[in-house]
Amino acid sequence: MFDLKNKIDYYLRTLTKFSRKNYSEDSELKQAINNYTFDVLSQTLNPSSQDNLRVLDIGSKNWEYVKGEYNFFKQFCNNLKLDGVEIDAYRLYSNFYSRYEVAKFYIKDLDGAEYYADNLLNINNKYDYIVWFLPFVTNYPHKRWGLPENMFMPEKLLAHAYKILTKEMLIINQGEEEAKIQQQLLESQNIPYKPLGVIKSNFYEFKNQRYGFVVKKT
Ligand SMILES: C[S@@+](CC[C@H](N)C(=O)[O-])C[C@H]1O[C@@H](n2cnc3c(N)ncnc32)[C@H](O)[C@@H]1O
Repeated sequence: MFDLKNKIDYYLRTLTKFSRKNYSEDSELKQAINNYTFDVLSQTLNPSSQDNLRVLDIGSKNWEYVKGEYNFFKQFCNNLKLDGVEIDAYRLYSNFYSRYEVAKFYIKDLDGAEYYADNLLNINNKYDYIVWFLPFVTNYPHKRWGLPENMFMPEKLLAHAYKILTKEMLIINQGEEEAKIQQQLLESQNIPYKPLGVIKSNFYEFKNQRYGFVVKKT
């Protein structure tokens, strides 16, 4: 029953793409989240400088943290192509703006940033770096998020992310249980990774502890 509701809701919002237009805001919380993102990337990745960098953010939601990612990677290149992909981009907030519309606001001054309302499995470009904050590794949060059950496919998504990666991928999970499952997923696919343990930042503290993994493409 729950899944039928998610299926119908998802179908309708993807079909209508309804949203109020021209979202705008200015908030200290968003600043803290962007500082957090920049800090976490600085603690975990160390890209060498180069002319062009291609970076993918997976499951971007409304991409409220894009500036943190953008400012981090921009330090290492002249030309940054930063893509975000979100399968449920047309979900509406109670103010009738969609995630897509909100993301458009966050990327508007970021040259080279693009938000794709799409499934990761349809993204076939290659990326030097991939950032994946809070992938769904168990069914329950996926369902609670409002996604149809047939879209829960952690193994397939991980294999695809690894396929399009050329250098390093940072994965951040929520809570110890999810981190354990993430580790099992990596091991079952023989994907080389380094566990980073608990990731903390002075800029923002989330309710649940977060754990990190860096995957290296060999
Ligand atoms: C827990 S949320 C994390 C959102 C965001 N990364 C953050 O840290 O706030 C996971 C996101 O992944 C998206 N997602 C799930 N499956 C996906 C897929 N196959 N392709 C793209 N995005 C997907 C969900 O819709 C959701 O927005």
